[in-house]
Amino acid sequence: MLAKDYNNSMKKFEQLRHAMIAFEKGNSKHIQHFLKVYEFAHIICSEDQVDPLTTQIVESAALVHDIGINTCLEKYQSSAGHLQEKEGPSLAIQMMEEIGYDPEFIYRVAYLVGHHHSYDEIDGLDYQILIEADFLVNMYEEAYSQEQIESVYQKIFRTKTGKYLCETMYL
Ligand SMILES: [Fe+2]
Repeated sequence: MLAKDYNNSMKKFEQLRHAMIAFEKGNSKHIQHFLKVYEFAHIICSEDQVDPLTTQIVESAALVHDIGINTCLEKYQSSAGHLQEKEGPSLAIQMMEEIGYDPEFIYRVAYLVGHHHSYDEIDGLDYQILIEADFLVNMYEEAYSQEQIESVYQKIFRTKTGKYLCETMYL
């Protein structure tokens, strides 16, 4: 990637991170959640040597993946996965359009936001890594049992570094 392109995409990423922190003002739990999911996604992409575009998509999706939760709680008094998948994409699209992301990039990130609870529809490495990073955080935040962790590890984890992180922290 050219230095100019890299600087531009970093600037957009920083704006997105800033916008998400502002969006979750007062909700430290949500802010800490998406920052941790982002960091694990970043580690997986970096150590598995994932290509730059996929890495950018995963890292951006990690920041915005739970953007629909607040709307779901207001509208349905529930943050069930399928409701988040319904409400999240349009909010992510709006935020990323305001920052000036490419439509194609926004489309894929919104798709991931709209599918991040659909574990049987994984159709790409970006999707795979987002799901793994989210589980790495949720296992801790939601205090999964050892049995649950082992089951998710077997059924979901595929990347070398995602597996390594899961084993190192929980198994
Ligand atoms: Fe999440």
